[in-house]
Amino acid sequence: EQQHHFAKRLLAWFERHGRHGLPWQYHHQSSADIYAVWLSEIMLQQTQVVAVLKFFEPFLARFGTVQALAAAEWQDVAPFWAGLGYYARARNLHAGAQQVADFIETHGRFPETVDEWQAIKGVGRSTAGAIVAMGVKKFGVICDGNVKRVLTRHRGILGDITKSATDKRLWEIATALTPKERSGHYAQAMMDLGAMICTRTQPKCDLCPVAGDCIAYALGAQSQMPVKKKA
Ligand code: ADE
Repeated sequence: EQQHHFAKRLLAWFERHGRHGLPWQYHHQSSADIYAVWLSEIMLQQTQVVAVLKFFEPFLARFGTVQALAAAEWQDVAPFWAGLGYYARARNLHAGAQQVADFIETHGRFPETVDEWQAIKGVGRSTAGAIVAMGVKKFGVICDGNVKRVLTRHRGILGDITKSATDKRLWEIATALTPKERSGHYAQAMMDLGAMICTRTQPKCDLCPVAGDCIAYALGAQSQMPVKKKA
């Protein structure tokens, strides 16, 4: 019931205030969706939405399918990443395209499960969950840095998020809160809440749909969570 209430309030907020109409959200052709969502998730790692917007469409116009990307030479791919930074992401994407193209050759379909996606270069557990939820449109769970910030505050979790015990607990909470239906909308809503409301500094708690039962908010302790010990 608490789970249900959390997702319900979050999704109602997302419908009115979340980010809609982003180019990777609207391909409406299922295999193109998966490739586009994967590409967008790699571009969005360490990079803001506004910056990604300038690179996503040109990249997709040049490399329209995973097979086209897999067949391309690295010298032809690199210029389409110039300015986004973190070139290792593009290297992994390019190598990953070859893995995905091979997977499609063998299985006659795209990777569709979290395990299948986690086997692809550059795709960690949270990115795999995002691709499954938003691209494949099956049940998938995300728990990236933004989600961890939201959940530690909402639940008042003071454990160090770099510790595996805390990470495990946060994944359990993230999984329990994710609705079985519309997990893609829920994932996007959590990312939007983290980016727009539950920001690292000066969170806008007065606009937050889940402030009503947020422990950090009740205690005025938002700035103390998440706890992240320096190495
Ligand atoms: N960061 C990673 N994935 C994202 C997404 N789909 N929307 C906004 N920020 C993100």
